[in-house]
Amino acid sequence: MANPVVSMKFWKPGTEGPGTAISEERQSAAEASGTAVIYNPHTSLSIEQQRQRLPIFKHRNHILYLVENYQTVVIVGETGCGKSTQIPQYLAEAGWTAEGRVVGVTQPRRVAAVSVAGRVAEERGALLGHEVGYCIRFDDCTDSQATRIKFLTDGMLVREMMADPLLKKYSVLMLDEAHERTLYTDISIGLLKKIQKKRGDLRLIVASATLDAERFKEFFNQNETEDVTKDTCAILTVEGRTFPVDIFYTLSPVPDYVKATAETVMKIHQNEGDGDILAFVTGQEEVETVVSMLIEQARLLARSGMQKHLRILPMYAGLPSSEQMKVFERVSHNVRKVVVATNIAETSITINGIVFVIDCGFVKLRAYNHKTGIESLVVVPVSQASASQRAGRAGRNRSGKCYRLYTEEDYESLFPATVPEMQRSNMAPVILQLKALGIDNVLRFNFLSPPPAETMVQALELLYALGSLDDQCCLTDPLGLRMAEFPLNPMFAKMLLESGNFGCSEEILTIAAMTQIQNVFVVPPNQKAEAAREQRKFAVAEGDHLTMLNIYESFLKNSKSSQWCQQHFLNYKGLIRATTVREQLKKLLTKFKIPKKSSEGDPDPVLRCIVAGFFANAAKLHYTGSYRTLRDDYELHIHPSSVLYGEKPPEWVVFNEVIQTSKYFMRDITLVEPSWLLELAPHFYQQGVQQSWNAKRAKVS
Ligand code: CDP
Ligand code: MG
Repeated sequence: MANPVVSMKFWKPGTEGPGTAISEERQSAAEASGTAVIYNPHTSLSIEQQRQRLPIFKHRNHILYLVENYQTVVIVGETGCGKSTQIPQYLAEAGWTAEGRVVGVTQPRRVAAVSVAGRVAEERGALLGHEVGYCIRFDDCTDSQATRIKFLTDGMLVREMMADPLLKKYSVLMLDEAHERTLYTDISIGLLKKIQKKRGDLRLIVASATLDAERFKEFFNQNETEDVTKDTCAILTVEGRTFPVDIFYTLSPVPDYVKATAETVMKIHQNEGDGDILAFVTGQEEVETVVSMLIEQARLLARSGMQKHLRILPMYAGLPSSEQMKVFERVSHNVRKVVVATNIAETSITINGIVFVIDCGFVKLRAYNHKTGIESLVVVPVSQASASQRAGRAGRNRSGKCYRLYTEEDYESLFPATVPEMQRSNMAPVILQLKALGIDNVLRFNFLSPPPAETMVQALELLYALGSLDDQCCLTDPLGLRMAEFPLNPMFAKMLLESGNFGCSEEILTIAAMTQIQNVFVVPPNQKAEAAREQRKFAVAEGDHLTMLNIYESFLKNSKSSQWCQQHFLNYKGLIRATTVREQLKKLLTKFKIPKKSSEGDPDPVLRCIVAGFFANAAKLHYTGSYRTLRDDYELHIHPSSVLYGEKPPEWVVFNEVIQTSKYFMRDITLVEPSWLLELAPHFYQQGVQQSWNAKRAKVS
């Protein structure tokens, strides 16, 4: 199995690697807050005319024919051609939603589910939540009687299977953005293939923005038991007109792609004819750095009397949408537009007028280290498929040029395709859900791309330690079954389910809800000092979790006032979201009859309860000042956003997650007593902690 985290070989030794800046992205960044705006050039036309102008419109009848005649149809078409908004409407118009049946469309991202649903409702002149609705984690905007077209995240679809294993209400399911190969899209594909065997009438559409359709087709046509292939899957391609793109490589590796990106933009600007530039770097920080470098350069150039001006624009998921919209605006003929973007511009959005692409050769991805059990965001070289997708962005209006900031030799050594998320994720949540769906032998599940065996073993071990699996590897009743019902990582589920026993369910509910919001604080760049002072007012010595509890309770005491949030640099929208998430989690605890109790200000039960869920994420202070994970002696650091950062470091901690930039940083950290680890996770730690204790005693005596 290929290891997704390959070394950064385009790097000159001794220089700073990529992604050295601290990034504020959360693990769940892709899922949670990021959004990409949609550009519609035809807003002046009537909805009907707009719909007919989309490239997919010509294929309407053919699509309906294929869906009628094949169990599965793979549809390939470029971003913006009309897949997500039109196909479900064609199906509804053709009768697939008659007699109460529903057409379901999955999206990897929450925001996409909401925004596409909104657009389709608008096109149909319907109120969102009636005929057209969406369902994402913690937010169900559908009507069980009226909804006919339902957009949902791929994760929610898997959840729905728990209540309705054959997904009986759906006539057609479209798995959208399948090229992204997210964890839950892949799981859905495996599960839906199983469902199709029992439900010959269920139709699947796999929609993809890139040309990797054969892989899906093979998978669906393959019959594992009879070892024959059948022809139940068809492919349809919505052609987009494309022009040739010339590819250029560097002759030697570039020492710093951020700088090289800015330099290449300037070279193009000075030496090449008309046409806008799109540059790919890996994250928000890099985008901002390149943008400020370019603004500086452009100023110098303007002073030197250059005729043609530059309009430099950032583009990344966390950017406010009004700012995002600017990349679509036309510029006058003596201005060249330069868009510096993250991977968001690879398939999620399309910008017209791009003639030059600069590809730094890297991308930020989620990665899982099965040795340490740590999941983090890392910067890795792109795949060849990604590189050609990026290059293709230059050839949409006329022939273009792509500058790759790496050598041709390096290109040859890249993976052909991006490693699917399935092969670089923590499998514990997935296994728990598959087990709950009655798939006992998870190792033999029909995965589109099987995860590494070590990852599976590691996940099984963790689930066993959490008490969700028994000696026979079966889901425990009730703990395991209940854990599978939580729309959260198993560690969170365990913490919540245990909170009654510790007498602190009220506090734990708040903490779990607060960890689901992106950034608790909003810090304007020019008010860093004031913000830090305000933030310290909420900080408690025990760490981030109790600090979050503090903030939430103060928020309630101040009547959820947005003004109060502003005064204290708190994220008002985030806190409001925490209240709704808390409500939902509370419903689950009520369902499982977990007693509602508060520890009345006593921190101990709360901290112990956190340990009951997160014992596997324990670390101990090392004499070097960094931390080491208890199980694997892996080096970790306190993230600068933690209230424990810069304070006297506690000896033992547990944390919720790790993010990797220049180092591995722990996030959401709480200090603990080592004896709790032994007491609450004896199987997991017996030896490890005792050894550390002995070592400590030896030093003291
Ligand atoms: O799924 P695909 O990328 O193929 O396209 P789509 O999401 O169905 O969007 C088709 C077109 O609808 C876009 O090019 C936009 O012009 C328009 N659209 C919009 O105006 N607002 C939205 N929220 C979504 C789409
Ligand atoms: Mg789409």
